[in-house]
Amino acid sequence: MGYREVYSAWQADPEGFWMQAAQAIDWQRQPSKALFDDKAPIYEWFSDGLVNTCWNAVDRHVLAGRGDQIAIMHESPITHATKGITYKQLQDRVASLAGALRMRGVEKGDRVIIYMPMIPEALEAMLACARLGAIHSVVFGGFAANELAVRIDDCQPKAIIAASCGLEPNRVVHYKPLLDAAIDMAQHKPEFCVIFQREQEVAKLVEGRDFSWHGFQYGVKPAECVPVEGNHPAYILYTSGTTGQPKGVVRHTAGHLVALQWSMTNIYNIAAGDRFWAASDVGWVVGHSYICYGPLIAGATTVVFEGKPVGTPHPGVFWRIIQNHRIKSFFTAPTALRAIRREDPDGEWIRRYKLHDLQALFLAGERADPDTVKWAQEHLGVPVVDHWWQTETGWAIAANPIGIETLPTKLGSPSVPMPGYDVQVLDEAGHPVPAGTLGAIAVKLPLPPGTLPGLWNAEDRFRKSYLDHFPGYYETGDAGYIDDDGYLYIMARTDDVINVAGHRLSTGAMEEVLASHPAVAECAVIGVADSLKGQSPVGFLCLKAGVTTPHDQVVREVVKLVRDKIGPVAAFKSACVVDRLPKTRSGKILRATMAKIADGEPFKAPATIDDPAILDEIREALAGIGYPEAAKAG
Ligand code: COA
Ligand code: AMP
Repeated sequence: MGYREVYSAWQADPEGFWMQAAQAIDWQRQPSKALFDDKAPIYEWFSDGLVNTCWNAVDRHVLAGRGDQIAIMHESPITHATKGITYKQLQDRVASLAGALRMRGVEKGDRVIIYMPMIPEALEAMLACARLGAIHSVVFGGFAANELAVRIDDCQPKAIIAASCGLEPNRVVHYKPLLDAAIDMAQHKPEFCVIFQREQEVAKLVEGRDFSWHGFQYGVKPAECVPVEGNHPAYILYTSGTTGQPKGVVRHTAGHLVALQWSMTNIYNIAAGDRFWAASDVGWVVGHSYICYGPLIAGATTVVFEGKPVGTPHPGVFWRIIQNHRIKSFFTAPTALRAIRREDPDGEWIRRYKLHDLQALFLAGERADPDTVKWAQEHLGVPVVDHWWQTETGWAIAANPIGIETLPTKLGSPSVPMPGYDVQVLDEAGHPVPAGTLGAIAVKLPLPPGTLPGLWNAEDRFRKSYLDHFPGYYETGDAGYIDDDGYLYIMARTDDVINVAGHRLSTGAMEEVLASHPAVAECAVIGVADSLKGQSPVGFLCLKAGVTTPHDQVVREVVKLVRDKIGPVAAFKSACVVDRLPKTRSGKILRATMAKIADGEPFKAPATIDDPAILDEIREALAGIGYPEAAKAG
């Protein structure tokens, strides 16, 4: 069957399609049906099945005779470590960690925060939670203590599992002081912490609260897998919304298993015994779905990579790992390829390695610009598959499903909707627009298995953010169009979310931090086009009357404030002081117009602008901080 037949088969019988897909999962109790729609527009999948994620990701493969196959390959060009962990070893390690967590009282439904760098123990911690039915929430290491504290208060974990440090190429990231500061800041206090001490830094433990990873497991009884209901939350993953309060995306257990297994086979063309690598971080959704769960559920080998595409130590590191581990499907972000291309424009580093096993390169996280895709196609000689998805969906909304059929690619398009997704482009009033017309991209409800059933303890926010604007649809927050062949084009966000180096960030959250500076009366943050990172944030500050602090000092202070409050990942490095911000007569700041000016694009000042002369001031301010393009905008 080709893509069209598979998609039509889903359209004709969605229930039958997903029940069939569910056969690829081991159930303790089979679900009686796929879709549970009694609380529509809030939907659930396979709710009355009984199932365990860790069983499906680990134990069943050992039982099937794959115990000696490498499950996780750790590659750290920063520590020079290369280590393989077999499925049997993984089972023992995870069962032991889960046993220790249980001894300390962690049970099904308890939340556990995981704050770890790219080491296999991060996956082991996730799987140990899954084994017990505990709900993990992984926090990315590039966030500051304050962001960790916000997540602690929101999901109220019984325990936190962390490492002593993370390693960036130029510095050690001291996780433990960040963790201690976050616990101090948070209202909620975890009962205990488990700290994995890395060789590079041994952290000081708090007596009675902190346990060391190994000591904690000493002599404990390994835990068996606890079957959970299909609609039991597997994890919460926080992502940026329009405000400083992140959204806790919930993932239910059974839909997650079924969808990831389906995607491994049909999108990535990966079966048991294959080798798959997603060069992302466990702190992001790509890390959840395609470093940890997807490849392991499929019985494949996954790679945990602690390094960067360039500089650790050279721009050939991706290709070396693909060669050495005979990777079949590789997944990265366009920004990583842009970084490599900048240092290796002619692909010399690529030619040094034998990439015979590589069948396809997958890109996601941000728009894949045609130049980068063409460069990769030319130098790698394999299909380059742009695919589009979000933390909320957990797997691709649109892709080129090479496990079914490799469709012709179109530059600038993540190809076609996957089964389960009825994607439509709508106008402001919610009516579908003709092919080729730009609009808001929405997905007809219900969303397929594996997607978010809601936000943690925030049903109202879930409805407001995703369901209310276009009744009957899930609002993706992306704008774009569909062409005559049914290919999707994702052009921009419709909200205040920006995408910096494949990382999703909220300009609203940055504005909250800028506004907290005592000299700042009013501010705005926009995303400006960046040739490496896709976008980078730029802040505009209006100072309070009477402030005498030099402007460059205020700028330095707000840059530091964002780094301290949100974290280095925000990559907030430039800001300028202006007298006024451009606004509509009703007081709405014209961020989109400011972004167009910064990018040197044509723009039309809205008729409702209160004073068009302010736009010239913005243009000058931008030119003054190194955005010469702004001078050309008009
Ligand atoms: N822990 C702590 N700090 C981190 C971090 C982590 N896990 N990840 C990034 N940071 C820090 C970096 O050290 C940097 O700090 P600095 O300001 O002191 O230099 C800052 O956050 C910004 O990081 P980043 O945006 O990653 O920039 P970079 O210059 O270090 O690297 C790229 C640029 C393009 C090479 C890099 O961003 C990259 O590989 N991006 C791909 C992202 C990706 O795979 N996303 C997955 C989504 S699919
Ligand atoms: P995240 O939730 O961090 O995965 O970010 C999701 C957002 O990243 C999407 O809503 C898009 O704005 C953007 N995005 C992800 N993948 C793509 C893609 N292939 N093309 C265009 N934008 C993408």
